[in-house]
Amino acid sequence: MLEARDVRVVYEGGFTALAGASVTLAAGRVTGLIGPNGAGKSTLFGVLAGAVRAAGGEVRLAGEAVTRHGPVWRARRGLARTFQLSRELASLSVLENVLVAKPAMSGERLLSLVFARGAVRREEDAAHEKARALLQRVDLWKLADVPAGSLSGGQKKLLEICRALMLDPRIVLMDEPSAGVNPTRIGEIVEFVKALREEGTTFGLVEHNMGMVRALCDHVYVLAEGRVLTEGSFDHVIADTQVASAYLGAQA
Ligand SMILES: Nc1ncnc2c1ncn2[C@@H]1O[C@H](COP(=O)(O)OP(=O)(O)OP(=O)(O)O)[C@@H](O)[C@H]1O
Ligand SMILES: [Mg+2]
Repeated sequence: MLEARDVRVVYEGGFTALAGASVTLAAGRVTGLIGPNGAGKSTLFGVLAGAVRAAGGEVRLAGEAVTRHGPVWRARRGLARTFQLSRELASLSVLENVLVAKPAMSGERLLSLVFARGAVRREEDAAHEKARALLQRVDLWKLADVPAGSLSGGQKKLLEICRALMLDPRIVLMDEPSAGVNPTRIGEIVEFVKALREEGTTFGLVEHNMGMVRALCDHVYVLAEGRVLTEGSFDHVIADTQVASAYLGAQA
């Protein structure tokens, strides 16, 4: 479904963040990307999404070479993402946050949403219905009018996933959805992703929370120093001694 082949990224200043990394995100699966801090996981997601420019290699989306296309073009073809740090618009309401994620929305409507704070028009248009259905699924509809900035870490992550889903994506790249989430609530994100996978959505998952990786990932890539160290099932890669040393190396 989404594929990176031999991707190289050199940041300004000459630092090589990816030194020829290849990953494949199979359709309808959750593919994990794990590895120590600085391994290049977020950079690889950036390349897959079209936000980070690759110095070499290729990205294919549903069989089509998309390396030269940017993030907006790829989003229109069904590629959405959520970020390591939540990007909610803190002063807008929960509902407004989901509605403004819809790219088809006109500038005018967006402005009226911004200026009609607290008095969002409740017309039953398609976007509103869709936003309501999504927020109900994650139990955030009851907080629809609350400023997004006042949500808990876990609720912000669920909101962020809902924002991504407004695009009707075929693929969602999630960068550390458990970051800043109370451990007792990580299960809610896990259950939501499982349900979406059942419905056919393809996921890429960058995570440090191994419980989440074990619970969700059908296939796992281990990245270290800009390269894929190993890949396979969670149990397979976690038993790998190289993987253990990559992590220990990061902690030293
Ligand atoms: N914009 C940038 N300019 C220069 N160097 C960068 C930039 N972004 C990331 N890097 C460097 O590239 C390397 C890989 O970063 P990246 O964010 O992809 O790692 P990561 O695997 O996502 O790490 P973490 O688990 O901490 O999120 C790091 O050494 C980082 O400092
Ligand atoms: Mg990262």
